Amino acid sequence: MKELLENLKKEAVEKIGKVKNAEELKMWEIEFLGRGKGKMTEITKKLKDLSDAEKPVLGKLANEVKRFLEEKFSEKKNSLENAAIEKELGKDFFDTTIPGKVRGLGHIHPLSQVQEEVERIFSQMGFTVMDGPEVESEYYNFEGLNIPLDHPARDMQDTFFVAETAAKAGQEGDGKHGRLVLRTHTSPVQVRTMEKFGAPLRVIVPGRVFRYEATDASHDTTFCQVEGLLVDEGISLAHLKGVLAEFLTRLFGKPVKVRFRPGYFPFVEPGLEVDFSCLLCGGRGCRVCKQSGWVEFMGAGMVHENVLKAGGIDPKKYQGWAFGFGLTRLVMMRYGIDDIRLLTNGDLRFIKQF
Ligand code: FA5
Repeated sequence: MKELLENLKKEAVEKIGKVKNAEELKMWEIEFLGRGKGKMTEITKKLKDLSDAEKPVLGKLANEVKRFLEEKFSEKKNSLENAAIEKELGKDFFDTTIPGKVRGLGHIHPLSQVQEEVERIFSQMGFTVMDGPEVESEYYNFEGLNIPLDHPARDMQDTFFVAETAAKAGQEGDGKHGRLVLRTHTSPVQVRTMEKFGAPLRVIVPGRVFRYEATDASHDTTFCQVEGLLVDEGISLAHLKGVLAEFLTRLFGKPVKVRFRPGYFPFVEPGLEVDFSCLLCGGRGCRVCKQSGWVEFMGAGMVHENVLKAGGIDPKKYQGWAFGFGLTRLVMMRYGIDDIRLLTNGDLRFIKQF
């Protein structure tokens, strides 16, 4: 019996290999799998004459052979059908019904999303979006901004200096421009744009900045800032307040108030710290605004006359204001992210949420 089954299998495989069309396949099916006189049926009929011990073993084998023949049949059927379609449609046939491969789609990083929005709003208000070098000269990062040599920001604690050899290779690594540093803020672009375009001027400068700082939940060594600079005749802090309130209201989609406090930055006079009304509690006081109703936002002020002069602009004719805020912190506030490091540590499970 076992031999019969094995021979049947062998014979069926041999014959199906020679089948060339649907009719021949039909004949093959009748010969081997036909219900009445098919060879498989003939053999299974004999199972009942076997001993009780043989029945389960050979019954199982007979089932396996039957399933094997059925599989061979449908394989051959498919390949004959495909061959027929191919013949009809020509060799270039492309089966549009085959399911496609799903590719993982990326999306814009939350920092870039907010940066694009900031750029859009300021562009609508007539500001040009500018760029500046991340490896900057000491002059543009400090002296040009009225930051004297003994200012603590220059200390090795705060600033990444580029190795002397690299600085020498750089065009600005000598004379008035001093060594090269990784810019500690976007403010160096103030003097650069004034030199290039003169007054009047209306620019914003989003970009990466670097500080030699210990990292924690709200401080990173690399983060993003947005600088703003407006120079024209008859400019006052009232214009700054109006522009900032409008910007924040458009960004957050609800009315936002702005508050000025005195602050100190060598490149502005007077200098300010700018806060905006807490969006979470509407100014009543909550955990986010430390019960004050206000959220600290940025540094700003009227451009110091030494800075205007460094940019080649006559301070008697023109005034201006400048501001600089942490874009990374703004993104954190917007999405309620409580650790700055999550934004750049490359963990896609986190980033995919935004
Ligand atoms: C400045 O960098 C000034 N250049 C801003 C300025 C521009 C003042 C123009 C006046 C006129 P400050 O060091 O405070 O200021 O940094 C500005 C903002 O950067 C901060 O309010 C904060 O949001 C963000 N920031 C500062 N340090 C870090 C840090 N380590 N990680 C993330 N964000 C930071």
